[in-house]
Amino acid sequence: MAQYQQSLDAKATIAVAGATGDLGTRLIHGFLDVDLRGGSAGLIALVRKESDKTQEWEKQGVEVRTIDGSSSQQDLVGALDGVDVLVNALPTSGAALRDNIARALPKTALKVYFPSEFGVDHRLHDFNIPEWDGKRAHYDLVQKTLRENNNFGIIVCRLFVGLFLHSGISAAYGFDTAKSVYEAVGSLDQIMNYTDTSDVAKVVVDLSTRVVRGMKIPQDLRIAGTHASFRDIASIMGKAGAENVELRSVDLQEFRERALARKYEDRDAVECLRFIMGDGRDDYRDVKEGGLGNDNVMVNGDERVFKWKTLEDLAVESQGRPNADP
Ligand SMILES: NC(=O)c1ccc[n+]([C@@H]2O[C@H](COP(=O)([O-])OP(=O)(O)OC[C@H]3O[C@@H](n4cnc5c(N)ncnc54)[C@H](OP(=O)(O)O)[C@@H]3O)[C@@H](O)[C@H]2O)c1
Repeated sequence: MAQYQQSLDAKATIAVAGATGDLGTRLIHGFLDVDLRGGSAGLIALVRKESDKTQEWEKQGVEVRTIDGSSSQQDLVGALDGVDVLVNALPTSGAALRDNIARALPKTALKVYFPSEFGVDHRLHDFNIPEWDGKRAHYDLVQKTLRENNNFGIIVCRLFVGLFLHSGISAAYGFDTAKSVYEAVGSLDQIMNYTDTSDVAKVVVDLSTRVVRGMKIPQDLRIAGTHASFRDIASIMGKAGAENVELRSVDLQEFRERALARKYEDRDAVECLRFIMGDGRDDYRDVKEGGLGNDNVMVNGDERVFKWKTLEDLAVESQGRPNADP
């Protein structure tokens, strides 16, 4: 009975690799916020070097450990000592470290590994670019390494969250909020999925807690925080202060052909995301609503764990002009 209660109360110790990056920093802040409500047993930031930022985290109870591309397997295993859950938030430029971490996994006591996905569901893509090929190659390496070491104890969980809410409504994605001109690739009425990183943090903590309490979680999850089309977003931002948003659209097929006509190594993920936003592969609404479907019922059905941050919330806090300042 005492053991049963202990497992009901168990919480995960979570480490973040690439903690000083954009996603990593936002996740650390998200985890600290969830921790105020008793989220995790411990929080570890894996960084290349200490800084004012990491010192500030230490004051808030985060343990900071250093690793980099030159860390040996033994160093990496040591850095993961006592960790239940590793969230990899390294970008493609950190691919060597990302893969060295994969090779060290069988020697750790990790229960869950979240590879550095946190974007669109590239299992659906019918083209190749370095960014998503790199993510796929890393995932294959993780699976192969665990198989070869007979380590089937670690759950590898890929979270596909669509575009980040904090950065997705910006000029790079066709929303020139400073000039009030939005340009869709394809239809202005195609729905797109956004998830805020604070909600990603909540999902990670919840899934991690389930695993340390002995429950199973799926290996691939599509997370749908909030959704809208270009036309909807113009209206939402207009109500919050954006003035006379001009809506334009360009031909999807021409845009896609131009993006993929580049040499393989020059194919850019953000440029490709613009036609993915237009062709429906970032539409994670329920299938019965016409989308690709999502796993929200499993992670946060009826918002029983938390309330998703919406485009309306973003509009209010940015007065209708998110990312308008350079
Ligand atoms: N869904 C979306 O809309 C969206 C948007 C952006 C990114 N993402 C995804 O989020 C993940 C993280 O991306 P991000 O934009 O947060 O990355 P980022 O800000 O570029 O990450 C930088 C982090 O990686 C470390 N790093 C950089 N180069 C390294 C190297 N060669 N060796 C070791 N560490 C290195 C940096 O360490 P230092 O601080 O020491 O330099 C820093 O911690 C990626 O999987 C990306 O695809 C998703």
